[in-house]
Amino acid sequence: MLGTPHIQLETVASTNSEAKDRIRAHAAEGTVITARHQTAGRGRLDRQWLDDPDQSLLASYILYPERDAEDWGGLPLLSGLAVKRAIDRFLTRDVRLKWPNDVLIDGKKLCGILVESGRMGDTAYVILGIGINVRQRAFPGGLRTEPTSMYLESGVPFETGDILAALSGELTMLYEQWQRDGNAAVIPSWKTATDMLPSSIRLEQGDEIRMLRAVDVSPSGALVVENAEGEREEIFAGDVSVVPTERKDLP
Ligand code: BTN
Repeated sequence: MLGTPHIQLETVASTNSEAKDRIRAHAAEGTVITARHQTAGRGRLDRQWLDDPDQSLLASYILYPERDAEDWGGLPLLSGLAVKRAIDRFLTRDVRLKWPNDVLIDGKKLCGILVESGRMGDTAYVILGIGINVRQRAFPGGLRTEPTSMYLESGVPFETGDILAALSGELTMLYEQWQRDGNAAVIPSWKTATDMLPSSIRLEQGDEIRMLRAVDVSPSGALVVENAEGEREEIFAGDVSVVPTERKDLP
């Protein structure tokens, strides 16, 4: 069962970093670390993830997958899908997914997910770091993607503990299926929960920005894109924004 044991902390630098320390101390698979506040929360692509105390669900799950690392590209998708299913238990709003692991309502970001993996000695591990905006009434300006919270979408100040319980249940179900059947257990459902296949996208990888068309997700979890010449490529990392279709200059 993912979510057991539950290590509940007040303030940490980052629950993902804390999870790594716990892996070093042989924490059991399924252990989840939560905190009321992070002082050095981390986002994808070396970005910061800021929070005010008691406003978000900040959780990191420890996994020791039995499947080969070539399948691990499905885990960010699995995490996004589990978050969507958990949120769907509380909100009637349409929650959509964006590759690789953004969870959005009306294009606004409700949740960020940072999946980190590695090896410690003989042990291969994965950390699913999940930050869900639960109770925020407002956000600072200047964020990369406009944010939203469960409160702003519903007017209800949900308890983070209730969201955690729902999330742990959904993750447990999906992870069991994934351990058995691999990415095929996740990708078809993920595709039904995204609006980006197909769509015109702006792909940012370091200093490079390209306009492409997202057409599929590969069996390994990569985003399959097509350029204006119809050549296909698999993308494993980067920032993707969907471009409105009225931009006729794009592929
Ligand atoms: C992103 O969208 O860039 C990913 C953000 C991930 C944030 C979560 S909050 C819990 C966990 N601990 C961290 O330091 N980061 C993740």
